[in-house]
Amino acid sequence: MNKRNLFLLLAVVSLIAACSGSKKTVSSSSGEPTLKEAYKNDFMIGAALSAEQIEEKEPNAAALVPQQFNAVTPENIMKAEIIHPEWDRYNFDLADKIAEYGKKHNIKVNGHTLIWHSQLPAYARNIKDVDSFKTFFNDHITTIASRYNGKIDSWDVVNEALEEDGTMRKSVFLNKLGENFVTEAFRLAEKAAPNTELYYNDYNIEQPKKRAGTITLIKKIQAAGIRIDGVGIQGHWHVGRVPFKEIEESILEYSALGMKVMFTELDIEVLPRNFQGADVSQRVASNPELDPYVNGLPDSVQNQLALDYENLFKLFLKHKDKITRVTFWGVNDGQSWLNGWPVRGRTNYPLLFDRQYKPKPAYYKVIALKTNTGAGESAKKPF
Ligand code: XIL
Repeated sequence: MNKRNLFLLLAVVSLIAACSGSKKTVSSSSGEPTLKEAYKNDFMIGAALSAEQIEEKEPNAAALVPQQFNAVTPENIMKAEIIHPEWDRYNFDLADKIAEYGKKHNIKVNGHTLIWHSQLPAYARNIKDVDSFKTFFNDHITTIASRYNGKIDSWDVVNEALEEDGTMRKSVFLNKLGENFVTEAFRLAEKAAPNTELYYNDYNIEQPKKRAGTITLIKKIQAAGIRIDGVGIQGHWHVGRVPFKEIEESILEYSALGMKVMFTELDIEVLPRNFQGADVSQRVASNPELDPYVNGLPDSVQNQLALDYENLFKLFLKHKDKITRVTFWGVNDGQSWLNGWPVRGRTNYPLLFDRQYKPKPAYYKVIALKTNTGAGESAKKPF
């Protein structure tokens, strides 16, 4: 064999190896549609990306994300502590990269998030005087929203402004600016980003009291003549305890206000936890009893997880005319924030892809709802 033929042979062998490598992790090569393909006429399917994934430094994610998802949200890099680390300094490096990533792969990008009480840099938390705080608030929203106007598709303008009882959260924003800060944030965002959709995002807002608070907020923004396009229900739920009834009521009530309804941070965790929601400041001390599946997930839990995802996507499909996007909070189990919150260092299994990026039984159930007529029949109707 001459040198040229040897080179060709090696190229073919490595191509085959690359293809069979991806076959293990991505179902599309088996001829089945991927998530975004299966749901293309229903709603977008998104994933939150870490900084490494935005930079395409994780080869498995770099291949899998554009195959499976048509929407992405940066998990952390557009939060104030990263994008606006000092009073007069912005750091747009990674945010620019996710905008380019979306363009390159034809994936929608949702900015997360302009105004949130958490992951705020220390200088902002410590501003004493109200006028300086107003200056921070105005500059932050205007600078970032205008930079990405036309470059990303949407913003979670305000994240988590409510308490569980539906009243305003006692945050630095409420304290310094009063209740109107949410409406004011949307007013500034609308002005700076006229071509970008604007959403309110929160956890547990499918629950009746917090839902009522959200509806009040939305109506207030609308009454002021300011644009709000949609509401993001985060969707951090627990296996066997997904609140189907409340989710369905929320879809109907939010959409009756003209809102696009989105599930923006979906994960279904399997580990013990004695409170609902996703308050990042809530922490629980580690203890082996709280981390029971270090060596793998028992079949019974794996099956319940698959059933929960199947029933959830059935419900989403029932209301596909009202739902525009379902985004998972992470690409695979190994990368999920639920390995570190509310207890540090656990082994959690909340997503559709496992630690090797292989699709889990839940993934196949979600796909089967679209490919197998009657496939979901096995799942008991919870709503
Ligand atoms: C989480 C990230 O996933 C973690 O990496 C970070 O340490 C804390 O924040 N609600 C939100 C998200 O709106 O921004 C949070 O993301 C999870 C809860």
